[in-house]
Amino acid sequence: MSQPPQTIAYPAPGSRPTGQIPERLAPHVVVLFGATGDLARRKLLPGLTHLSLSSLTPDIEVVATSLEDIDTDKFRDFAHQAVTEFGSRKLDESQWSSFAQRLRYVPQNAGPQALADAVADAEAALGPDVRRLHYLSVPPKAALAVVTMLSDANLVERSVVVMEKPFGTDLQSAIELNDQVHGVFRERQIFRIDHFLGKEAAQNILAFRFANGLFEPIWNRNFIDHVQIDVPETLGLDRRAGFYESTGAFKDMVVTHLFQVMAFVAMEPPTALEPRAISEEKNKVFRSLLPLDPNLVVRGQYAGYRSEEGVASESETETFIALKAGLDNWRWAGVPFYLRTGKRLAEGQRIISIAFKEAPKSMFPAGSGVGTEGPDHLTFDLSDDPKVSLSFYGKRPGPGMKLDKLSMQFSVDETGHAGEVLEAYERLLLDAMRGDHTLFNTAEGIESLWERSTPLLDNPPPVKPYAPGSWGPNAIHQLIAPHAWRLPFERTWREH
Ligand code: BG6
Repeated sequence: MSQPPQTIAYPAPGSRPTGQIPERLAPHVVVLFGATGDLARRKLLPGLTHLSLSSLTPDIEVVATSLEDIDTDKFRDFAHQAVTEFGSRKLDESQWSSFAQRLRYVPQNAGPQALADAVADAEAALGPDVRRLHYLSVPPKAALAVVTMLSDANLVERSVVVMEKPFGTDLQSAIELNDQVHGVFRERQIFRIDHFLGKEAAQNILAFRFANGLFEPIWNRNFIDHVQIDVPETLGLDRRAGFYESTGAFKDMVVTHLFQVMAFVAMEPPTALEPRAISEEKNKVFRSLLPLDPNLVVRGQYAGYRSEEGVASESETETFIALKAGLDNWRWAGVPFYLRTGKRLAEGQRIISIAFKEAPKSMFPAGSGVGTEGPDHLTFDLSDDPKVSLSFYGKRPGPGMKLDKLSMQFSVDETGHAGEVLEAYERLLLDAMRGDHTLFNTAEGIESLWERSTPLLDNPPPVKPYAPGSWGPNAIHQLIAPHAWRLPFERTWREH
């Protein structure tokens, strides 16, 4: 459950608490494209505000731009509203106005020179050695025009560029986009973002797997029966029909977030916690992904989608997708990975569930209950209050031998450091400023994923209707049989 925003004590402007970030970073001008869009409103503006006020980042100035013809004052009002509505920390007036002064707006239609002038102004406010971070919060078809504009405005030097997903819309367009972006930026300047990898809980998968001797020896086809990565959302289209109608659930969520999370679950131990080693192992997972078989995919569309504003009356865009994927390598041969996500579903959840193979159980008498509640599970909850649970059968106290499903649970809230969690975009913005690619995607990885997706993109099964508030079309049960979806959970998480 989300907490009401808390007021936090930010350091006084100009003072930098020691020990928060190890290195001193150069000041940055953040050029935010798509600055009046949904992502900017929900995540990027609140995130930049927090980073700037908390002194986690160096000094920053923001040059915001979008297709809207507004001025800086209007944009500041827009940003204030966004931060008030979506920020997870409450700001007082002076905190807000100290950040607001750092915001400038220039309409994208004013052209490259106007953008260059605004950036020069912002740089002048920051002093020498300024770097630039260009954030492209724009749909795939607009990305190239922005890259060209940055080149025309002469803003490529001293910069990094953060590109939003989906990166391209199929293999061909991703290759072309990569080629064209490489015509302007070097690979080391490019940060292809996937915010799921910035989630504290996603990084905890790496810690959990590779910092402990307990699970890694059983992390393979001999002990694991199947894996589910399940991200249902209650959210509908919100204001994003334009984006969503041409994207759909597969490109919006699966080819990006769900496959990235799958890579963290499935990868071999990297040789070091550094970008090249991690990317190599993730890319090996993507290369071993079996081409997606359209027969093992359920596409759904919620009833009423076609009457939403901005949606075509005969739209075939899927608002739901469930699929069975497989990895053709030694560790995972024969282990199904079931992925599901969709809009307007019964609950908002983000879980990874690892089902272990069952014991022979032969020593337990009939009626003991052993095995009746499914296999042992390790469950990662990637929500904003991240949790991990290990479920197992244990003896019910009392005479006889009755077995119940029990669990050991851990919540990040219990660590005493919950207040230090950075929202995923905050973490990734900071990493991009530091030039750290560890949690970003590579051109090669993205192209492999599009390639493995080609059979589905070429031959998508027709969308099946489902009722808003349900768990998707009925066909999802056949897809996963003889197993069952973990969600909805039979038992709720323990309160802590
Ligand atoms: C975004 C998708 O990338 O991720 C949205 O475009 C989706 O459609 C969102 O709602 C989910 O992210 P989170 O962090 O809110 O679970």
